Formats: sequence, structure tokens, C-alpha cells
Amino acid sequence: MMSKFVLVTGGAGYIGSHTVVSLVQNGFKPVIVDDFRNASKVVLQGLEGILGEQPILHEIDVCNKESLDKLFQQYSFDGVIHFAAYKAVGESVAEPLKYYRNNILGLINVLSCVIDHQVNNFVFSSSCTVYGEPVGQKEVTETTPKLLPESPYGYTKWMGEQIIADTFRSAPQLRIMNLRYFNPVGAHHSAQIGEFPIGRPNNLLPFITQTAIGKQEQLTVFGNDYPTKDGTCVRDFIHVVDLADAHVCALQFLWNQNSGVIEYLNVGTGKGSSVLELIKAFEQKTGLSLNWKFGPRREGDVVEIYANVDNSFKKIGWKAERTIEDAVMDAWNWEKHLNSLL
Ligand code: UD1
Repeated sequence: MMSKFVLVTGGAGYIGSHTVVSLVQNGFKPVIVDDFRNASKVVLQGLEGILGEQPILHEIDVCNKESLDKLFQQYSFDGVIHFAAYKAVGESVAEPLKYYRNNILGLINVLSCVIDHQVNNFVFSSSCTVYGEPVGQKEVTETTPKLLPESPYGYTKWMGEQIIADTFRSAPQLRIMNLRYFNPVGAHHSAQIGEFPIGRPNNLLPFITQTAIGKQEQLTVFGNDYPTKDGTCVRDFIHVVDLADAHVCALQFLWNQNSGVIEYLNVGTGKGSSVLELIKAFEQKTGLSLNWKFGPRREGDVVEIYANVDNSFKKIGWKAERTIEDAVMDAWNWEKHLNSLL
């Protein structure tokens, strides 16, 4: 059987690059689209190191519909995974139009191509941010009501799902999977690819590893008086390689459908860990002692949320296999690898 071509927008990014590896390892041919405005070419060397060959790459901006159309003419794609988007919550508050333009226009362009070129199989990078701060129960299922987001970033995911649902109503031949990611952490075990924060990291684990290696002076834990097990926020930290594998399972599910379908699935571990627990796991696994202090709460932070993952296993046969201990070690090895390149 000929291998299937899968378009991966944002394929040089953090989750995208790990998904490229999973796709190749499962016999698929990923075609990366990335314009490197928020990704690094270091990732390409890493991908080549892991895969033994350079992945197919087109340096295209998904907001450029003409270039996208040409690409869809050039390849006969069997599926599309759409990662390319901005993702910094704080920045989205400061520059909302930048977020709406890029994330919404990019989605509209990619979705139009999926329909016009009859690809039909589409996976969307959504986020647990669509649940907002869950009322009562902190474990959310896919039917937990969506709440209005706190940030323009959150709205682009919330509206992204809405745009896709409306499009599906008008084009019911589509086979669509919305994956709601919880908190992706870690890196590929080889330490050849990982998260590449540009500037000061916003996310917790990159800030931890950068503090440990000396790129940051000190980690501030935002808030210690939350109503949680130890006063710090609780998240569902999911190893990025597990997350990447979920995309392969999602595509296989879509290809097995005989008619159109739209699904929403949580992609997490099913377990909540606090900020302090992640720090402790890092210290225990690496033997290092991290320079950190408590600081005030960060505006807009959700207190506690984690995934119910029963449906992900039932629908697409996927579940997370790696622990936060695996993730902190892999992230640390990646940080050391990055440092060796300087
Ligand atoms: C949020 C969204 C997620 C979205 C992501 C985009 C929720 C629940 N999650 O992630 O859907 O995709 O933004 O980036 O809305 N922390 C510190 N010190 C730091 C950095 C972080 O204490 O220097 C704490 C935060 O306060 C938070 C936790 O670590 O409690 C995780 O933060 P972060 O990694 O930024 O992810 P979320 O905010 O959960």
C-alpha cells in the first residue's frame, strides 16, 4: 500500500515536530508547512537525526491562501493536522488582532483547502482552555459545558471549534477530530527535538529547565493560596510524545469512518499534578535543587483542571503511557542538548 501523505501545519513547532516523528514511525509521509516565525531550524536537524532523513518541508504561511492552494494541488493529501497558531496567553491579551488574524484566518484557509481539494480528514489542535475554570468537578469530560475563555488566545480555540462545527453542518462529508490538549510537557527521549521557547518562557516546565541551567535567575511559582492539595494550581501534564501519538490514532480513526463525523476528545493523562509536584519531580529525577520562590497569582490562571480520558481510549484506542517523571527527565536532557549547541 502506498503511504499516506499527511499535511502538518506548524510541523516544525513543539507538538508538530513530535507528531511528525510519530507519523513517520507509523508509516505515514508527513509534509511540514511552517514559516519558522515561531519555530527553529534546530528542530529540522533533530528530526533528520531521529528519522535518518530530512522531512518534506514547505516554508509557507498558512495565512497565504494562494500558496496553500498550490500545495494542495501538488500533493494528494490523505489527511491534515492543523497546528500552526500562536499560543501565548499573555501576548494574546496585549495583541488580540495578531491572534485573531493568524489563528482564525489560518484555520479558515486550511479548512477551505480541505474541502476544496476533497481531503476531508481534518485534525484540529484545540485546548482544554475551552472548559475555562470548571465549576465543581475538576475532572472534565468532553461534554462538560464549554465556558467563555479568559483570553483572545482561548477565544481562537473556542471559536475555532465553532467555525469547524458550523463548517461540518454545511459539509457533512468531512471527518473531523478536535483534540483538546491539556498541558504538553517533555521532549523526545533522544533529546534531539523539544520545545523551543523564543524569549522568556511562559510555560512552567521550560521555565524550570531554563532556571536549572542558568538561563533564568529564579522560578516564581504564581500563587500558593489556591484551594488545591498544596495551594498551587493543578494541571494535567501530558508527555508530548504521548500527545503526538494521539494524532496518529485520531487519523487512523478518521480513515476508518465510512461517512462524515465530528468528534471532540480530551488528550491528557487523567491525573492532576500541582505546580509544586512538577518542581519536586524535577528535583528528584535530576538530583538538582531548583532556585524558586512563591510570588503572587498570575491573572487569568485556572485553579485546577484535569482530563477524563475514557472517551479517548474508547474512540481511538489511545491513552498516555509516560509519567511526569519521564517528562521532566526528557525536558532536562533536551535543555542540556540546546545548551550544548550555543
Ligand atoms: C494555558 C492553558 C492551555 C493553553 C496554554 C497555552 C488552561 C488550563 N491552560 O496553560 O490550555 O494551551 O495556556 O500556553 O487554561 N507557572 C508558574 N510559574 C511560571 C510559569 C507557570 O507558577 O513561571 C504556573 C502557572 O501559574 C500555572 C502552571 O504553572 O498554574 C502551568 O502554567 P503554563 O505552563 O503557563 O500553562 P497553563 O497556563 O496551564
